[in-house]
Amino acid sequence: MLDKSSDKHLYEQVADRIQELIKQKTLQPGDRLPSVRKLREQLSVSVSTVMEAYRLLEDRGLITVRPQSGYYVKANFVSEEPNPSDPPQQANVIDTSIVSRVYADIDQPQIVKLGAAVPSPELLPLVTLNRIMGQVIRTNPENIHSYQSLKGCETLRHEIAKRLIDAGCAIAPEGIIVTNGTTEAIYLALQAVTKPGDTVAIESPCYYGLLQILESLHLKALELPTDPREGISLEHLETALKSSNIAACAVVSNFSNPLGSCMSDRRKQDLVELVTKYNIPLIEDDIYGDLYFTGNRPKAIKAFDTKGIVLYCSSVSKTISPGLRVGWLVGEKNFLQVKKLKTVTNVMTSIVPQLTVAAFFANGGYERHLRKMRRIYHSQMEKMRLAISNYFPPQTRITRPQGGQVLWLELPQNFDVMQLYESALEYRISIAPGIIFSPSKSYRNCLRLNFGLLWSEDSDLAKPASSGDRTLQILGALAQQQLAKKILIT
Ligand SMILES: Cc1ncc(COP(=O)(O)O)c(C=O)c1O
Repeated sequence: MLDKSSDKHLYEQVADRIQELIKQKTLQPGDRLPSVRKLREQLSVSVSTVMEAYRLLEDRGLITVRPQSGYYVKANFVSEEPNPSDPPQQANVIDTSIVSRVYADIDQPQIVKLGAAVPSPELLPLVTLNRIMGQVIRTNPENIHSYQSLKGCETLRHEIAKRLIDAGCAIAPEGIIVTNGTTEAIYLALQAVTKPGDTVAIESPCYYGLLQILESLHLKALELPTDPREGISLEHLETALKSSNIAACAVVSNFSNPLGSCMSDRRKQDLVELVTKYNIPLIEDDIYGDLYFTGNRPKAIKAFDTKGIVLYCSSVSKTISPGLRVGWLVGEKNFLQVKKLKTVTNVMTSIVPQLTVAAFFANGGYERHLRKMRRIYHSQMEKMRLAISNYFPPQTRITRPQGGQVLWLELPQNFDVMQLYESALEYRISIAPGIIFSPSKSYRNCLRLNFGLLWSEDSDLAKPASSGDRTLQILGALAQQQLAKKILIT
């Protein structure tokens, strides 16, 4: 039944219903959808609601229109999701030299950046941000050049505290420390609660930036099995907490990188109870929390933390500007230690970016911008999934995240993704090979793709800020050729 009192528009509800029928295979590839008139009558909605719903499904890449004939389910919309991971269960010392190589390749000009979790500049509110930045400089000609509160500008901390309410957290502005992005927040958090040689429990696969931080703090990592939907295995975490010497645990709570998992509230609460029972600090990275595709913003794990054991980290890098380097950390129990570390590292975060983000949050249209970005990302993700289903080897498994900006692909066992990485570079396409997401160098048959680049149907490799069907066609063909030639991991 359609719910007229729901926050979700009627056309979105209609589209979701049809999408579910396609997913359950009630509607099969090639099937004709009901005519606009028929569906309108069946659901008692207006013609424009049905038209909007069909347009949305087209945007999501699920259906296609045939002139004079009607709407049809697109062919080949099949792909299983990967199973939960099963990493080796011993703590590893970390070596991320391969990550540096991947970074260097991505940095080359004219590369289609499917390998980095970056948005196209066209999707960011750059005109507004630049205008606000000009105003900030004009109205604060002296302040922006002086030392100010080490915790960060009060106006920004106030705005962040307001935004945290959406994530279910009641945090006073005084409890927030502004950092240079999420990276610095995680770095400070880990540094505050560990000492060299300690072991940190992490998701597997996990964001390679976290591995680089662990490596530079001389920490070891214990990889834990992780489900592409539900996140880290609490059962394995409990076993590890009981039997090993775990100093901290670090997870990406919402739409993780690379699996896209989003823990349910129940599991978030269970996780907090677990770490509280063993008195182990939890570093939560919630950088993708605002990028949900449907419903409401998922809660942070921090929302369930009554003892101040969670160190919450986030930033604007995935939503408005990676270059402004504005992030934040809620330290609670470890607040003083984190503040001291921030001060000795770089005293404070630059003021112009802080005031710019504060003004953008307050009245720059952040919510409107997010609504647009989520809609575009959702549609781009569906298009990319469809293109992968169409062009990659049929055994390829693909995640189906409900937010964020990356897809994780699992190719047949023994498929050597590093080889695909090399051949894709010859076409100036970067991918992120699975091996960089694990200290034990697992996931050699996996890769991560960024759906945050502007999608264009006739994607032109001369325009590296966009991707599209053509890019995926090339990648898929390279993967198919590699399989045919039996270039496998030996
Ligand atoms: C999970 C995760 N955390 C942190 C970061 C880095 O964030 P920042 O640019 O704010 O330091 C990224 C960027 O890719 C990420 O995916």
